[in-house]
Amino acid sequence: MSRLLNSNFLLQIIIAFLSISLVRSNPIESFTNEEFPEPITGSDFKKETSKGLHVIDFFSPYCSHCKKLEPIWKETWETFREEGDRLNITFSRIDCVESGDLCNEESIEYYPTIRLYGPDGAIKNYPPDGKRTLEGLIKFARKEALDPANLESSHIKSQSEMLTDTDFISLLAGKGSKPYLVSFWPTENMESTDNQGEFVDCAQCTPFQRIWRILSNKLIANKINTGHINCLKSTVLCEELGFNDLVGSEINSRERNPRVALVLPGKISNNLFVFPENKFDIDLSIFEDFAVRTVHNNNIPDISTLELLNIMKKEMDFKETGESHVEDQKIHAVFSYDPETVVPEDMDILEYLIEPFQEIPNLYLYKVDKSLIDLTKIGYEDMYTIINDNNEDESTKEMNPNVFALNTITQFPTFFLFRDGDRISHVFPGYSSTEVRNADTIMRWIRTFSKPLYSEVTPSNFQSLMEFHTDIFSTMVMIVTNSSDSKFVEDSSKILKKLNIAGYKYEHERMEKMFKDLSQEREDKNDYLQFLRDDDAPSSTIFQAMRLIVPHINNLRLMLSFYDISKFDENMSWLNGGIFKEPLNEGDVIVFDKAGGRVFKFDASGNAIDIDSPSNLKNILLSVAIPEEAELETPEYIAMGRISTKLNSTVNNILRNAVYLFIVLVCILSLSRSKLFYRKYKTMKNYKSKRNTVGLLGKKDFQD
Ligand SMILES: *[C@@H]1O[C@H](CO)[C@@H](O)[C@H](O)[C@H]1NC(C)=O
Ligand SMILES: *[C@@H]1O[C@H](CO)[C@@H](O)[C@H](O)[C@H]1NC(C)=O
Repeated sequence: MSRLLNSNFLLQIIIAFLSISLVRSNPIESFTNEEFPEPITGSDFKKETSKGLHVIDFFSPYCSHCKKLEPIWKETWETFREEGDRLNITFSRIDCVESGDLCNEESIEYYPTIRLYGPDGAIKNYPPDGKRTLEGLIKFARKEALDPANLESSHIKSQSEMLTDTDFISLLAGKGSKPYLVSFWPTENMESTDNQGEFVDCAQCTPFQRIWRILSNKLIANKINTGHINCLKSTVLCEELGFNDLVGSEINSRERNPRVALVLPGKISNNLFVFPENKFDIDLSIFEDFAVRTVHNNNIPDISTLELLNIMKKEMDFKETGESHVEDQKIHAVFSYDPETVVPEDMDILEYLIEPFQEIPNLYLYKVDKSLIDLTKIGYEDMYTIINDNNEDESTKEMNPNVFALNTITQFPTFFLFRDGDRISHVFPGYSSTEVRNADTIMRWIRTFSKPLYSEVTPSNFQSLMEFHTDIFSTMVMIVTNSSDSKFVEDSSKILKKLNIAGYKYEHERMEKMFKDLSQEREDKNDYLQFLRDDDAPSSTIFQAMRLIVPHINNLRLMLSFYDISKFDENMSWLNGGIFKEPLNEGDVIVFDKAGGRVFKFDASGNAIDIDSPSNLKNILLSVAIPEEAELETPEYIAMGRISTKLNSTVNNILRNAVYLFIVLVCILSLSRSKLFYRKYKTMKNYKSKRNTVGLLGKKDFQD
């Protein structure tokens, strides 16, 4: 009886549940079934476009490209409809055979023409080289709807929810279903950030409301929610978070800014990230980056070798439409592990990287369950193909396997770094598990390689580029660009490619130079190795020696950069009161000897250095950076004044000897196959000990 009752009861619940979901599913059903609308006609045009923004496809039923676009347009319309409603932007069509007069009035010259319209008329054409794909079209619509310049036409509303103390605490307790970006305001009753808030001593608050409105819409595409908290109401919470200045309502003499924090879901610790107060600016992109990148780096997505290969092969340009626009260059740090041997302690490190990663622009964290040494090798081989395809009558160059071994010795798990457009990747030179679990050590290494392939030189970052790891990156080559010259922009990917080729050619010479030095020192240093062997030095000693040496083995490196004279002063007069007599021209190349403070604008025969021949540029670079290896004589230089100090010579010598020693070790190890066995043995030994004590110690190490 009671069983029957129970099942009856259950049935009732199920029925109730079903009827609820039926009621619910109806409107959803009708929503998804909404018909793909007919093209807008001439007579409806004004009325339709007065409602928000429209991306319009002007087509003719007879043109073949239009027919090809039709199904894509329909799918785009369907996919984007919901988001479009929120952003007040619609994908629409106009049939130019049916509405010929309208298309004449709108000066439609070819089919299909895709154009953005607002209530006041045409705003812009879809970029001529923009891809007519679902992704491309949606990206365009999203970007335009959220462009502050179009905001008045789109009338979008803030998606930020007002949160109470309890709401926020439950987010901190890991109860949120999505990441939340939360802003904190010195106000009492701001329901919506669309409303004019009453702010005292907060000049930035009103402009920040506008940014918050756009951001709240933008972040939805990244599955990040937004909320806001009134600190005059949630005083205890705001004080707990250290936002004391947002709490007082009396007029302070000090200006205050709203604060922003991100809470990650599904975690109860290490889930709160506060945006640094001193970085606050009325700039949407910095908050977007903060939220998107923190969430990404917390998720640590897997990445495939194919994706990484595409990253290495990306071609950069100065066009805004390209996928690989030079301003979007990314750096990809990949945690590479063996699923058979990895232990939780190895993975723990990743969590401690989220915060320091935030400081380095465009740095993204991924993981992969295999070694990437082979991929690194493919990259190097590709670099040699590029060098030899552009040999300009120079002899064929080959990869030296010993140099490759030297650049890729590591232990698992480890980290790899890939930069957009760079065939050369970097491997974390770690020889013990404690190192791969030490956030400081890893960050020190990542920072060293954290610049994009092409750094943009600006008056404000010049000094820091000159000081950037001068002991490792001794030279910077800079191409002068003019992004307002359409011809130059058109050719930009070719120009950047040539700069990259010159860089690869230089890199080959640099690696050869290292190896040559090694061979010379080899005899001497063999003794030391013999000594270690005779002395039965424990393997840990050898690895310890390596550990000390590694960060210094790869010096005399080159940085590639560009300077846009349409954005900044073409005389670079901000540089020591102007060191160039003539203004720079687009296509000029300037070479900076960072450590020596020398600037080169002309070659030895007095001609302005340019990008035409990568081989010639490489020879000039060598004459500046490694004159003993150069065919050309070092040109005259302009003194920039000493920007940073060189390592003093004793330290330098010690380092050099240490370098040779390390290289000898590597060569001997790589000559015999014992290296492989040795590494395996060492790894096994490490994992064994890790499970006992080292794990805990290692963990403690990076928590400090
Ligand atoms: C879309 O924008 C128009 C004006 O351009 C405005 O009248 C309308 O209310 C907006 N719709 C929504 C849903 O915000
Ligand atoms: C950049 O190019 C544009 C278009 O060719 C030209 O008008 C302008 O003067 C150039 N800027 C400089 C600083 O040379």
